[in-house]
Amino acid sequence: MRRINVGIIGTGWIGEIRAKVCATHPLVESLHLAEVDEAKLKRVAGETGARTATTDYRELLRRREIDAIIVSTTPETTHYPFTRDCLLARKHAFLEKPMGLKLKEADELMKLAREANLKLTIGYTQRFNPKYAYVKKCLEDGTLGRPVTALVSRNVSRSIGHKIGGRVRLSPAVMEATHDVDFILWCLLPARPVRVYSEAVFRIMEHEHGVPDCQWIVVTMDDGTVFTIGAGWALPPGYPHFSVATIEFVATEGALLIDDSHRDIVLNTMKKGMVLPLSTMPGEQVRHVYQGPMEAETIHFIEAVALDRPLLVTPEQARQVMEVTLAADLSAERHAPVGLPLDGV
Ligand SMILES: NC(=O)c1ccc[n+]([C@@H]2O[C@H](COP(=O)([O-])OP(=O)(O)OC[C@H]3O[C@@H](n4cnc5c(N)ncnc54)[C@H](O)[C@@H]3O)[C@@H](O)[C@H]2O)c1
Repeated sequence: MRRINVGIIGTGWIGEIRAKVCATHPLVESLHLAEVDEAKLKRVAGETGARTATTDYRELLRRREIDAIIVSTTPETTHYPFTRDCLLARKHAFLEKPMGLKLKEADELMKLAREANLKLTIGYTQRFNPKYAYVKKCLEDGTLGRPVTALVSRNVSRSIGHKIGGRVRLSPAVMEATHDVDFILWCLLPARPVRVYSEAVFRIMEHEHGVPDCQWIVVTMDDGTVFTIGAGWALPPGYPHFSVATIEFVATEGALLIDDSHRDIVLNTMKKGMVLPLSTMPGEQVRHVYQGPMEAETIHFIEAVALDRPLLVTPEQARQVMEVTLAADLSAERHAPVGLPLDGV
């Protein structure tokens, strides 16, 4: 069995999780890190036993032994150029969402991967959450029948709104609802979205960051199914990066009502009062076990590269998600529905 050498660019919140999963996986021969924050680089390299660590990501591109690179950088303007460079250096690539900021960036990444026969996938982590996978399973095995409608309502802590708004002016559609749009589009395959309507509310975050607090999105599919996603990042603190979501999936033969509210563990201390631990979207390591979907997603990528297996999230699907979220932003600006496909974006 061939073991692979993995590079990670950006070892912030998410890159550190990915690095730690790679460091302990038996199919990973060596780990190579690139991070511009030297203190962070030193700490994560020490904790993961990385073979090399650099502040210049181009060093990873020059290392011939590296098979695959995970791009976990911010701001999101780095996603397209860094991933393009990885593919040009003939590395398989795993890119955090969003896939790019313009559809033509996504098109170029897909073309480069296709031409060089490289694997390319995007971090739609919630597909690896068993609750979400169960919806897909019940659709595939006929339990639910034909989809009628779906709703995902998600709110996350203001800490996320400040973190994202502080670095880049991207909307809740592009940065947060993107996970839920991906999930529902995946469930509804092979139907395709044809129309998007969205409204956004500006009350809290606008002053500091110029971004909305929440955004509601209604999507119509080519088979007549309609789904709604609501995404907001204005909740008061409940835990660092708390996320609460409700899913309602209604079909002709049944319905699934899913509670992903993360209100099942309450920690109450004299110092901090009540908080809701283990309530982030990617999850976290708890001693010897990982809680949440990001470990499984990272392992899926490692195995897909090492064992030449197909990836669950295709770049074509990630591009479709981008198209819907970009259309949502256009719609919110115009207060009018936007038809798909989008031209010239
Ligand atoms: N899948 C999920 O559930 C999920 C959750 C949160 C964030 N994300 C995505 O993951 C990405 C990372 O988010 P985060 O919260 O970890 O961000 P972060 O800001 O905590 O980390 C990003 C890191 O990239 C580093 N960086 C920036 N420029 C670099 C360069 N030129 N070379 C090397 N390193 C560089 C920064 O120093 C920082 O440490 C974002 O694009 C975000 O959209 C995904």
